[in-house]
Amino acid sequence: MPTFAVIGGQWGDEGKGKVVDYLSGWANLVARYSGGNNAGHTVLNEQGEFRLHLVPSGIFWPRVTCVIGNGVVVDPDILLSEMDELQSRGVDVSRLQLSDRAHVIMPYHIALDKLEERDRGASAIGTTERGIGPAYVDKTARTGIRVGDLTDTDALLERLHAVVPQKNAIITKVFSGDAFDVDDLFQQCLVWRERLLPFIAPVEETIRTALASGDNVLLEGAQGTMLDLDHGTYPYVTSSNPTIGGASVGLGISPRSIEGVFGVYKAYTTRVGAGPMPTELLDHVGEAIRRKAWEYGTTTGRPRRCGWFDAVAARYSQVLNGLTEGILTRLDVLDGMSPVKVCVSYNLDGNTVTEMPSRSSDLFRCKPVYEELPGWDIPTAGLTRFEDLPNEAKRYVETLEQAVGCAMGLISTGPKRHETILRSTMIPHGG
Ligand code: IMP
Repeated sequence: MPTFAVIGGQWGDEGKGKVVDYLSGWANLVARYSGGNNAGHTVLNEQGEFRLHLVPSGIFWPRVTCVIGNGVVVDPDILLSEMDELQSRGVDVSRLQLSDRAHVIMPYHIALDKLEERDRGASAIGTTERGIGPAYVDKTARTGIRVGDLTDTDALLERLHAVVPQKNAIITKVFSGDAFDVDDLFQQCLVWRERLLPFIAPVEETIRTALASGDNVLLEGAQGTMLDLDHGTYPYVTSSNPTIGGASVGLGISPRSIEGVFGVYKAYTTRVGAGPMPTELLDHVGEAIRRKAWEYGTTTGRPRRCGWFDAVAARYSQVLNGLTEGILTRLDVLDGMSPVKVCVSYNLDGNTVTEMPSRSSDLFRCKPVYEELPGWDIPTAGLTRFEDLPNEAKRYVETLEQAVGCAMGLISTGPKRHETILRSTMIPHGG
């Protein structure tokens, strides 16, 4: 029953795509459990460079079944175009399954996301405007359309007649937007139905069968712990639970079936969108990281906010997810930078804070307290053995391990699969 989860340890964009692609070489099944096409997972392998938003990053390994679980919200247009793109580049997508319990992002969700963001003015969240929040609102309000609803067209039409007038009332009366037509939406659903039908499945059963037969299962997180609806920097969060609890709920599996939880951390910190980020660097160092690492959103193209490694947030996420081990990515980005800094605590109104405050209003006022370390000139890019790292880089990794409270069992030194240092015996070897 070897089931491992890969969780974002920071604010998303930690490099989970590369990690999941690497680990998928060991897996029989890879499952996405939360979020939607707000995620952007970049994978670079011998088949080329791919930017995935919904399809699990295990899709490049021919023996891997890839599933999109009930916890995901799905924009069918995006999913279909992603599948088309993969297929046109020679990647077989017939091994993909989509949960009939997953919720559909409808066009009015996208409209509402945009209208609500405009309305928030200066306190905008900086969402990806992909309709994620409004789709999860409908799920919780029990007014959502589920993927399975596409397969029962009579019930679907009835449901659209019940839901769409409510949505139109909000769109037109609160936000002065344009109303949606039920028949147009229904026709759109029929088109989606036609193409998605072969992929719609009771995914929870597929996973449970895989678990029962001892298959290797990888749970692919999207976004990151600090964007978790309950545990992140609320309200500057996404509308789902990227943390480990979300994996259980979002796939219909028992937490007891999860053997290991790997938290992915970038060697520094980035964040897209608004909200507190104590280690943000608004100077030339932040700009240097952004340029060197090309820190621009995979989904929206927005520049990511860059800063030093925030070990307070990282430790919080380690404890919250009960991490078995950490995975450190993009260490090579810090090559040639000196000194390098790690935020080990915050100063909040003159007091030392080592725990993550629950209120964003407090976190906005937190000033980082840094431990400064010497940088390294010898490049780490592409290295595959820990002993080959320059001593200063080793010390940096060890400092992070100490501060975060877990070993970094895998270190990524470049975007390609093989640019990886595997230190752990627990983390399965890809390929
Ligand atoms: P939403 O998920 O589109 O509602 O956006 C809410 C917040 O989460 C915004 O700050 C987004 O920038 C952020 N966010 C959502 N998905 C990702 C991701 O995959 N990586 C990084 N940030 C994300």
